[in-house]
Amino acid sequence: QTIYLKDYREPSYWIDQTELDVNIRPNLTRVKARLRIRPNKNLTGELLVLAGEGLTTHSVTWNGQSLEQNDYIIDGDSLTITSPLSEGWLETEVSFNPEENTSLEGLYRSRTMYCTQCEAQGFRKITWYLDRPDVMSVFSTRIEADKAQCPVLLSNGNLLEAGELDAGRHFARWVDPFKKPSYLFALVAGDLACKADAFTTVSGRPVAIEVYVEPKDLDKCDHAIDSLKRAMAWDEARYGLEYDLDRYMIVAVDDFNMGAMENKGLNIFNTSCVLANPKTTTDLGFQRVEAVVAHEYFHNWSGNRVTCRDWFQLSLKEGFTVYRDAQFSADMNSATVKRIEDVNLLRSAQFAEDAGPLAHAVRPESFIEISNFYTLTVYEKGAEIVRMLANLLGAETFRAATDYYFSTYDGQAVTCDDFVAAMEKASGRDFTQFKRWYSQAGTPEVTVSDSYDPDANIYTLSFTQSCRATPETVEKLPFHIPVAMGLLGEAGSLKLQSKDIALSDEADNTHTVLELTEATQHVVFTNVLEKPVPSLFRGFSAPVNVRFNYSEAQLIRLLKLDSDEFNRWSASQELAVIAVTTALQEPPAFTLSPQWLEALRDILEQQMIEPAVLAYMLQVPSVSYLHDRLPQYDVLDIYAAREKVVKALALNLESQLTSFARCFDANVAYKVDAEAVGQRALCNAALLLLAHAQVRSASELALEQFKSANNMTDQLAALKALLLFDEPAISAEALEAFYQQWHHEALVVNQWFSLQAAVESDSALTRLEALTQHPDFQWSNPNKVRALVSVFGNQNVTGFHCASGAGYTWLADVVVKVDKNNPQLAARLVTPLTRWAKYGRRGERMRQELARIAAQPLSKDLFEVTDKA
Ligand code: ARG
Ligand code: ZN
Repeated sequence: QTIYLKDYREPSYWIDQTELDVNIRPNLTRVKARLRIRPNKNLTGELLVLAGEGLTTHSVTWNGQSLEQNDYIIDGDSLTITSPLSEGWLETEVSFNPEENTSLEGLYRSRTMYCTQCEAQGFRKITWYLDRPDVMSVFSTRIEADKAQCPVLLSNGNLLEAGELDAGRHFARWVDPFKKPSYLFALVAGDLACKADAFTTVSGRPVAIEVYVEPKDLDKCDHAIDSLKRAMAWDEARYGLEYDLDRYMIVAVDDFNMGAMENKGLNIFNTSCVLANPKTTTDLGFQRVEAVVAHEYFHNWSGNRVTCRDWFQLSLKEGFTVYRDAQFSADMNSATVKRIEDVNLLRSAQFAEDAGPLAHAVRPESFIEISNFYTLTVYEKGAEIVRMLANLLGAETFRAATDYYFSTYDGQAVTCDDFVAAMEKASGRDFTQFKRWYSQAGTPEVTVSDSYDPDANIYTLSFTQSCRATPETVEKLPFHIPVAMGLLGEAGSLKLQSKDIALSDEADNTHTVLELTEATQHVVFTNVLEKPVPSLFRGFSAPVNVRFNYSEAQLIRLLKLDSDEFNRWSASQELAVIAVTTALQEPPAFTLSPQWLEALRDILEQQMIEPAVLAYMLQVPSVSYLHDRLPQYDVLDIYAAREKVVKALALNLESQLTSFARCFDANVAYKVDAEAVGQRALCNAALLLLAHAQVRSASELALEQFKSANNMTDQLAALKALLLFDEPAISAEALEAFYQQWHHEALVVNQWFSLQAAVESDSALTRLEALTQHPDFQWSNPNKVRALVSVFGNQNVTGFHCASGAGYTWLADVVVKVDKNNPQLAARLVTPLTRWAKYGRRGERMRQELARIAAQPLSKDLFEVTDKA
């Protein structure tokens, strides 16, 4: 059943208060709910229809009187009270079995604890309810459980009372004073250890910080706590937003479908996004914890205090919050590196989503299962939209707009239009056209050409934008596209003069932002004394595909001279695309361009660019990105050409790379600041390139580093390097040693699984199958499943696309099997198969596997994805 945005109606009833009594016993949880119901005056005379899933209903009462057979109807997932209600109390009592809830939504058991995941529609698995975000209620929650099994009982808000009961039972009662939708409800019961800390807000409110983990993980809480305190202070300084409850609790859960969840006052995290320790966590892991902790914290305002009217508005909270966490990470670490990482993700994965059968607008028009819309488009492209608005307004006006947004809509459930209205109000601008970014799916393509008139000293840039058809929209209207740009002469940035655009009078007038609004536009620059190279979309100023026919010499000028570090990196990637294209065209005697190599050597030797950015400049774009750029080639040909380029690059830069790789020093104390992280990134990128090219001396370096590293970043990079060498005995020995060292650390074992699932060899599938039989592998744990299955499908190019089609068959079988227990997970794992259309004859085999999946009885989640694909 498809749900449409255009059908949105206010709820017929409100629920002002929600009183829950949750009684947990082995294999049977009973929930009593007392709901203060009030008819919506705008829609009188309607019936109350509550949502519920998998509930056994024991009783229904209205104002204390038990309702009989004809007073209500339970039909599948709805409970209808058969006559209209005035204001009063509705009570229900239900039961269900959390121990058997493998979907990981609603109330379920993970290892030793009970926990909840209610976003988007999991609350209906706990009790009958108006489970929609525009119904906001004050919640009070009593939890009762066995004291020995579940000494810790948590829910949202403040703890009002707790006490002992007979027969080894105990209880706690929590009240959250803030009205909230049901998707922000949370409950945790288990045997958990707590690491406590405190924060005082800028206005002096003391906040208790508590991180709850399994006792074995108490040594991995510090980084999350530090990150949380930094995020709290940052949101006060940057957005003027303060925390509003006495406690901020975080619980780490091993079985979790997503990264984390922003439940009011009680965040629940996937262990992979909260636990960190130098011994077991890589630098990327540390940064991820910092970013996700901040993301969930920032939701307290962008999501909880101001929430979404309906699920079509999901990007209202997610796009904005991703933008906020990206700003935070940029401030805490290197801004250029953060931008490179985000753009890499967007270009290699979000663009693919936008070009495939599941393309949807940032504010979708319809869905069957909302869980399928927690996508890169809603999150990352949504964040790019907010970023464009913030840049169009400038920091000061954007802050005025967000102040207005938070104060005007506090306590309300609102829409993306309301968000943009706040931007318009603060700036006096009209964003009617800009809002097409929310409603039109697909990545716009901007084709740019230039001409130079040396006699008149005139330089003209011509922009043409287009956007291919996507499932919901064939004809696209022009987008409002900001183009941050400058012009480079032989010696660097040129001053800009143009009557087409307003330029500031600053002395150093070398940068401007053009705003495209038409299908075709020309911009004329005057007094241009030499033919310039345009530096376009600096900082990736809009989420578009840019097509400009750069020559290699022009790209080298950008690489060397651009004032925008992001565009220097971007030029390095474009140069690599040219190299891969050349390798595709002229086998087998292929050589790299001497000019490119010389430019790279210069950059590496001068070290004027921060090491972390250099590390990214040495990376050849992913096969997935290259395949999008060069769709006319077969994916395995692209893979082979990319391999050639990587190897040639490593061999040609061997001496520079070797000196970087030798920087590893086991005696340097481990720190996670931006500088140390950058050094390790460069040193390890160099090591991996050398290993890729089978440089013998690097094999010794890798082995030495593997054995002596004092942190997971260096150790894992060394192990990865060892796996690249064509020496099965050494690889096998290192893998075994690593496992013996870390088998008691679940998150490290996941890395160990991932590493092996990515190994590209003829026996990839055999190895994969064996790993699923490993005693540490569990089909019920999403992190483990993703470590093998997603990594294989998305990263193991030769394994997944092997000629027999066995990779596709394997994935299809896995997806069907997982769907029986965890539909959300299955609907994500299937993604690589949904991209069949770009794989030519291989695609036909992929499509057959999709059809084979579609022929079986499926969950709503998996049905929607396979049906659309
Ligand atoms: N709101 C969460 C976040 O982005 C994501 C949770 C979504 N969970 C789900 N099962 N769809 O922080
Ligand atoms: Zn979020």
